Amino acid sequence: QGQNQAAAPKVLKVGAETTFPPFEFQDEKTKEYTGFDVDLMKAIGKQLGYEVQIASMGFDALIPALEAGQIDVIASAMTITDERAKKVNFSKPYYKSGLTIVVKADNNTIKSFKDLEGKRIAVQIGTTGAEEAKKIKDAKVREFNSASEAYMELKAGGVDAVVNDKPVNDYYLAQGGAKDAKTVGDILQAEEYGIATAKKNTELANKINQALDELKKNGEYDKIYQKWFGQ
Ligand code: ARG
Repeated sequence: QGQNQAAAPKVLKVGAETTFPPFEFQDEKTKEYTGFDVDLMKAIGKQLGYEVQIASMGFDALIPALEAGQIDVIASAMTITDERAKKVNFSKPYYKSGLTIVVKADNNTIKSFKDLEGKRIAVQIGTTGAEEAKKIKDAKVREFNSASEAYMELKAGGVDAVVNDKPVNDYYLAQGGAKDAKTVGDILQAEEYGIATAKKNTELANKINQALDELKKNGEYDKIYQKWFGQ
């Protein structure tokens, strides 16, 4: 066809729920998606010769979108679970995480997960935090579309606690949340994040694992880690 038609780079459509700093969020100034997962996916894309495009959607919409072929990959701080692994392929773990509790700074009654019995808890819909909160005896769990809405509800006094991923809770507190909130207790359970691909697309799953290995070997993974989590 057209003689000026440059070979367009292949596009990798990456689904994410993009209000989850420091993993995936919109830069306030540039409006670009940024974060640890976004940088990691861009580096993987570069390795594999893909241009990465972020498709933003609700966390609970990600797996259905992958199954329907609307996206190629999920990179959304998604915890590898047996339940999810029935529907998607997960890459090797790329980040160690876990759940923690955030309460108001002046709360002196909630000190651990045990103390959440009978309490009002805010979580993000479809997350492991939501799942774990629902197991707590007599807890009144309210599910929000984003973690930031859950923190807002805590601030407003509508709930007693937020249960969410530790690195995201820590980032929220470090970015100003610590003025009126704090984190208490230990990590509830160790979790690991994986990059998800469709069950039938094993070729892409293999390529992503190879790219992850390469990025760990060549120091690129460490660079991205330091950028978002180094002091
Ligand atoms: N790690 C938790 C999970 O897999 C929460 C992830 C939420 N991610 C997001 N981008 N909102 O359930």
